[in-house]
Amino acid sequence: MHNYIGKLAVLHNEHYDLELSQALSMRLTVPLYHSVDNKTPEVFFLCWRDGCLKLLDKELLKKGGLMVDIEPRQGEQRSWPAPKEGALAQAIGRKTRTVVDATTGWAQDSLHLFRMGYDLTCIERSPVMLELLHDAFLRLEHVDWVQRLDLSAPQLISGNAIDILAQLGDAPDCIYIDPMFPAKRKKSALPKKSMLVLRDLLGDDMDKDALFDAALQATAKKVVVKSPGYASPLGGKPAQSFKSKLLRYDVYVKGVSINS
Ligand SMILES: C[S@@+](CC[C@H](N)C(=O)[O-])C[C@H]1O[C@@H](n2cnc3c(N)ncnc32)[C@H](O)[C@@H]1O
Repeated sequence: MHNYIGKLAVLHNEHYDLELSQALSMRLTVPLYHSVDNKTPEVFFLCWRDGCLKLLDKELLKKGGLMVDIEPRQGEQRSWPAPKEGALAQAIGRKTRTVVDATTGWAQDSLHLFRMGYDLTCIERSPVMLELLHDAFLRLEHVDWVQRLDLSAPQLISGNAIDILAQLGDAPDCIYIDPMFPAKRKKSALPKKSMLVLRDLLGDDMDKDALFDAALQATAKKVVVKSPGYASPLGGKPAQSFKSKLLRYDVYVKGVSINS
C-alpha cells in the first residue's frame, strides 16, 4: 500500500487537458495543484511536459523533470534487434528468448532488452512508476521503427512481483531483478538523479530476498540479479558473474545448488 499524502501531488500544466491531471490525481489519491511555491508541502510532482509525463522534485521544477527515456542509450545500435553485446546481454544469454523484468523502475534495462529483441514482460509495483511507464510504453508504440516493424511495447503488469511470479502461466527462460540496494555510505560514484529521486520516493526494497526466492521458483532456466559492485550477491554464490564498471550481473541457474 502506498501512501503519497504530503509527499506527492499532480501539477497541472495549462497546455494539457485538465481531465488528464484530474484523473491522475484521483488514481493516485494525491492533491492537484495549478502552481507550486515554497510553501507547498509536497516534494514530488507529476506533470505533463514536452509531450510526456514527468516526475519532478522542487529542484527540477524549473528544469526539465524526469521521464522514462525511450531513446536508445549512447552507442547502442539503432537497428532491431540490436546486437546482444555487453554485460547485461552476456548475463541474460543468447539462447534466452523470454524474459520477465520483475523490477522495471525507469525501464532502462527493460528497454535495452526490448531493443535486443528479447520477448519481454515487465512488472512494477509502484503506482507512480506505473503511470510513468504507461506513458512511456504508449510513446514507444508511436516510434517510427517500432511501427514499421509492427512491434508492440512489452506487457506491463502492475503489482508485487513476489505474488505475480508465483502465478505466471508459462515459466520464462529468465527472470531479471534489479532491486534498490541501500546506498553506500562513502560516496563513490554519485547515483543518477533518476535513481536518487526513486530512492527518496520509494525507499529501499527491503523484500529483495523474498523476491529472489520467488524468481528462482518461477523461472524455467535462470535468474539474473543486477547489483552495485559493493553489494554481496543476493542469492549466495552465483553460477556466473558479469561485471561492468560499478555494477555486477549475477547469474543463478535453476537446479544448480547455491552455496553461500
Ligand atoms: C532500482 S529500480 C529498477 C531500475 C531499472 N532496472 C531500470 O533500468 O530503470 C527498482 C524498481 O523495482 C521496483 N520493485 C522492487 N521490488 C519489487 C517487487 N517485489 N515487485 C514489483 N516491483 C518491485 C521498485 O518499485 C523500483 O521501481
